[in-house]
Amino acid sequence: MNIRPRRNRKSVAIRHMVEETKIGAEHLIYPIFLKDGKNVKEEISSLPNNFRWSLDKLLPEIEACMKLGIYTYDMFPAVDEALKDKTASYSYADENFYLHAIRTLKETFPEIVLMSDVAMDPYSSDGHDGLVENGKILNDETLPILNKMALAQAQAGIDIIGPSDMMDGRVGSIREYLDLHDYTEVSIMSYTAKYASAFYGPFRDALNSAPKHGDKKTYQMNPANKREALLEAELDFMEGADMLMVKPALCYLDIIHMLKDNFNIPITAYNVSGECAMVYAAAEKGWLNYDLAISEMLLSMRRAGADAILTYFAKDFATLLKK
Ligand code: PBG
Repeated sequence: MNIRPRRNRKSVAIRHMVEETKIGAEHLIYPIFLKDGKNVKEEISSLPNNFRWSLDKLLPEIEACMKLGIYTYDMFPAVDEALKDKTASYSYADENFYLHAIRTLKETFPEIVLMSDVAMDPYSSDGHDGLVENGKILNDETLPILNKMALAQAQAGIDIIGPSDMMDGRVGSIREYLDLHDYTEVSIMSYTAKYASAFYGPFRDALNSAPKHGDKKTYQMNPANKREALLEAELDFMEGADMLMVKPALCYLDIIHMLKDNFNIPITAYNVSGECAMVYAAAEKGWLNYDLAISEMLLSMRRAGADAILTYFAKDFATLLKK
C-alpha cells in the first residue's frame, strides 16, 4: 500500500496541522430575545437555555458573552399581543421598547455589532411576515412597511439589517430607502434562501408569532428546490445585499455550499431554533453528548461554506472553545 490516509491522523498535532476547517467565536452570531419591562429572564420552554430578557438583565449577559469573544448579536422583540396590529405599526413607533434597547446597547457597548430582523411577524396580529388581505399575503404593499421598520432600526443604531420576510424586491427597496436617508453604512444580510421549514417552532413560541391562519408557503421557499436559491441569491446580490443567508442550516448544507461557490460576498447560515431544540432534547435524555454534537454541527456549517453562523449554541460553544 503506497497510500495510507491514516498517516495524517496519527497524532493530535498532525490532525490539527492538516485540519481544513477552523471555527472560532468570531464566526458566531448570537440570537437574543428581548422583552419590555424590568428584571425579566424567562426561559423559553421549547428552547431550553434561551431566554426572553429585559434590557437591565441583558446588559451583564452581553458583557459575559463579549468576554467569550462573541461580538455580534441578532436581536428579536417579544411584543405584547395588545400592541400587534394588521400593519405592524409598533415596529416603528416612537415608544418602541426594542428600538430603545438597541440604542442603549450600542451606547453601552460601542464595539458590538447588532443585527435585526426586518419582517412584520413579531408585530403583526396576523402572525405573517407581510400584509394580509382576504387571506393573501400582499407583496408590494408590504415593502413600504419594511422600509419604515428598517429606517427606524437604522436610526436606533442597528449595524446589519436582516430582511427575513421573503417578499420580492425587499432588499432593493430597503437599500434605496436607507440610502435616501443617508444610512449608506448600514449593512444588509439578506435571508436569501429561507425555506418554509418545520424547524422554526421554538422561535415562534419565543415571540408568540406563529401565523394565526394558513402557512408561509407562498413566500418562504419550497424545501425541494435548489436552483431557485440561485435565483433568490442573484436578485438579492443585484439589489445590494452585503451578505447572503441560508436558513435553516443543517438540512440545507448543499444550499450553503452552492451559494459559496457562486457568489463572492459572505455567506451565512442560520442554525435555527428547531435544530438546536433537537439537540437540547436528546442531550437531556442522555442520548447525545451535547458538547460533541454542537461542535460537529457548527463545524459542518463552516465546512459547507458558511462564513458566519447564527446559533442559539453561541454562548455554550464559545465557552467550550475557551476550555
Ligand atoms: C421571522 C423569522 C423566523 C425566524 C427568524 N426570523 C420565523 C419564521 O419565519 O416564521 C426563525 C428563526 C428560528 O427558528 O430560530 N420572519
